[in-house]
Amino acid sequence: MDVRDQHSANHPVMNLPPSLTTNRFGPSPPAHTSLPGMPGPQRGGHGPPPMGPPAGHGGPPPMMGPPPGMMNPFAAAGPETLEQFGMRITQTVTGGFLMLSMAMGHQTGLFDKLASFEGDPKTSQEIADETGLKERYVREWLGAMVTGRIVNATEDGKKFFLPPHRALFLNTPGLGLELLILASALPMQSKVFNQIRECFDKDGPRGVSYDNYQEFHHFMNRISLVFWERDLLKTFIPSIPGLTDMLESGASCLDVGCGEGGLSILLAQRFPKSSFRGLDIISAAINDAKTVAAAKHTENVTFDVMDAHEMPDDWEGRFNYIVCWDSLHDMAKVDVVLKKIHHVLAPGGIFSVLEVNAHSDCTKNMDNPFASTFYTNSLFHCMTVSMASEGGMGLGNMWGRENTTKTLESYGFKVEDCSVPDGWFNVHYLCRKK
Ligand SMILES: C[S@@+](CC[C@H](N)C(=O)[O-])C[C@H]1O[C@@H](n2cnc3c(N)ncnc32)[C@H](O)[C@@H]1O
Repeated sequence: MDVRDQHSANHPVMNLPPSLTTNRFGPSPPAHTSLPGMPGPQRGGHGPPPMGPPAGHGGPPPMMGPPPGMMNPFAAAGPETLEQFGMRITQTVTGGFLMLSMAMGHQTGLFDKLASFEGDPKTSQEIADETGLKERYVREWLGAMVTGRIVNATEDGKKFFLPPHRALFLNTPGLGLELLILASALPMQSKVFNQIRECFDKDGPRGVSYDNYQEFHHFMNRISLVFWERDLLKTFIPSIPGLTDMLESGASCLDVGCGEGGLSILLAQRFPKSSFRGLDIISAAINDAKTVAAAKHTENVTFDVMDAHEMPDDWEGRFNYIVCWDSLHDMAKVDVVLKKIHHVLAPGGIFSVLEVNAHSDCTKNMDNPFASTFYTNSLFHCMTVSMASEGGMGLGNMWGRENTTKTLESYGFKVEDCSVPDGWFNVHYLCRKK
């Protein structure tokens, strides 16, 4: 008998818990809220009711609860003993190191290769030969994977296999693929650990600039593409009233902080009568965006290296649709950028802001399973790159719904809708000029 677990002996999908058979956030439709005073039915409909106090006039939108079917793995019921705390810290430290090895498995192609064996056990030499890697390294990695209960070993310890349900999880958008990509943030962000350590000191540097994160835009584009390729054209754009018609008949669109431009390229291909312009402060990201657009022969999209704080005044009213996808919180001075966006948005135009789904008060994020992940990401990148600029506000990616809504409203935007697309980390703030 080998040490395969029960799951691996049967059909993979049949063994997935119900909460994992649709997407990471469980089978329920998205919780969705409309702002006070907004007419019309709630799209996405029958999720759990919003939590929190009823919103008053002009206040922030009603808040959502945690994603259905997903709990914070650190949530504890009742008082905690010393032993329980010790166990949790042991799991956390072990999980952190395991995540580093998982990132390695993703980047070396080891997970993909193991998945392609469809549960058929192989020796470390066979796995190394098939992936073109060194056996000694593969064997050590397998040690981490086996004891971390990700890869299984045969009882004699000589052969290894990835049970099909785990391969399915790790390769499927909406299940584990984006988590595996997210694991790659750990080695990337660890490179700046010592610099960030110095930033904590009162007389240390304000922040760490973008030049120190060479791989970031590539990492970000990969993780964003998981969501865009799955949902952008199918559900996200159609969820915005009037936008599909506008883009089909020909509109001018701006992607602020576009990174490698995956969003604008997909939109440009789908809406050939519209024009798309992406801008980003990182020239390497813009170069990659231009290369991909050229390779796809997408002629209605252009990309520029530009600081969003310096959008030209003569762009006044030029854009019918503007999007800031996960980018606003990275900007140094969000007030300046929002004034610029207000200036360049056409009357009647639409402004989409995508930001991490969180409350502004950390104590309200206790049930959010990704809260500590995103606070750490923010510390090791988002907040810190913003702080690096002179006068940078360092909002951080967890600046949260309450602060985001208040800020958008105070710079002349009406937040008409605030929803979490099914299975996403992000909230979509749908805005128009007041
Ligand atoms: C978290 S990334 C998001 C990238 C892309 N929108 C996505 O979702 O994959 C934030 C982007 O904002 C860009 N950015 C930050 N500050 C900027 C500024 N002042 N002007 C233009 N782009 C900026 C960064 O270079 C980065 O590409």
